[in-house]
Amino acid sequence: MALFVFPVEVTFNVLRSPASGFVLHLNVRIGLRADTHEFRPKVSFADIAVIDLKLHDHHLTGSSGDTMADERVSHWEEVYREKDDTQLSWHQDDPSISLELCDVVGVDNASSVIDIGGGTSHFAERLIERGLSDVSVLDVSKAALDRSRGQLGAVGEQIEWIAADVTTWSPERSYDLWHDRAVFHFLVDADDRSAYRDQLHRCLLPGSHAIIATFALDGPKKCSGLPIVRYDPEGLCEVLGDRISLVTHRKHTHHTPWGSSQSFQFSLLRVGQ
Ligand SMILES: C[S@@+](CC[C@H](N)C(=O)[O-])C[C@H]1O[C@@H](n2cnc3c(N)ncnc32)[C@H](O)[C@@H]1O
Repeated sequence: MALFVFPVEVTFNVLRSPASGFVLHLNVRIGLRADTHEFRPKVSFADIAVIDLKLHDHHLTGSSGDTMADERVSHWEEVYREKDDTQLSWHQDDPSISLELCDVVGVDNASSVIDIGGGTSHFAERLIERGLSDVSVLDVSKAALDRSRGQLGAVGEQIEWIAADVTTWSPERSYDLWHDRAVFHFLVDADDRSAYRDQLHRCLLPGSHAIIATFALDGPKKCSGLPIVRYDPEGLCEVLGDRISLVTHRKHTHHTPWGSSQSFQFSLLRVGQ
């Protein structure tokens, strides 16, 4: 009886980290045995060979990119469905540093402001209370936006709510101020950071400003269980490109609702020509 071995190559993505964008990729060759009299495929461990094992950077493109984007949405939807504000480490009753930097810029009633990844923050509400009429909040989690809007009642009706991922959103207009507290630092993938930078430049005309808060260099390495990138103001400015300059910055210790401390940096940035 003669035996024939038909090698078949199979690829498995054995480990996938949505947060870091890495995929552990295993490529094996499996021999299917059959004898000459009857086709009786049989796999034996002796015929399995690992021919490729690699960890590769997974970019947000194509169908697997869609999966990454879906995973980002489901992470944040789950967070906001399962936790109330007092269970969110980033929650703050008073967005005082952001508002103080708005004063430095000279934000007034005529200013248009977008809060990127605003979640259930009180920042937009405070701006409406200050008399602004053109305030938008964008977030990848619709659950967060619905909750925030519901809590705000009539004030919520004065805010434009945008359910979108900042890296793939198609902005249709410009704003005077882009505000982001604890969103950019989640972009651990260079392609995502570059997409964010493009969106920022689409939304801000020369002379406009951005307030971007991230964990500082001595801040936590994770947020909401996801890895983050920590920045100092100069490093942040550099990542955002040549047209961005640093106006001023603040170092801030945030106290979580359960009393632990997190070191943040808030950068006020200006878009040049
Ligand atoms: C740490 S929370 C900060 C929320 C809010 N900025 C604050 O200061 O309370 C991060 C927020 O960003 C949102 N988010 C995360 N990645 C995003 C993305 N790629 N596009 C838009 N929103 C995003 C999350 O849903 C969440 O509301």
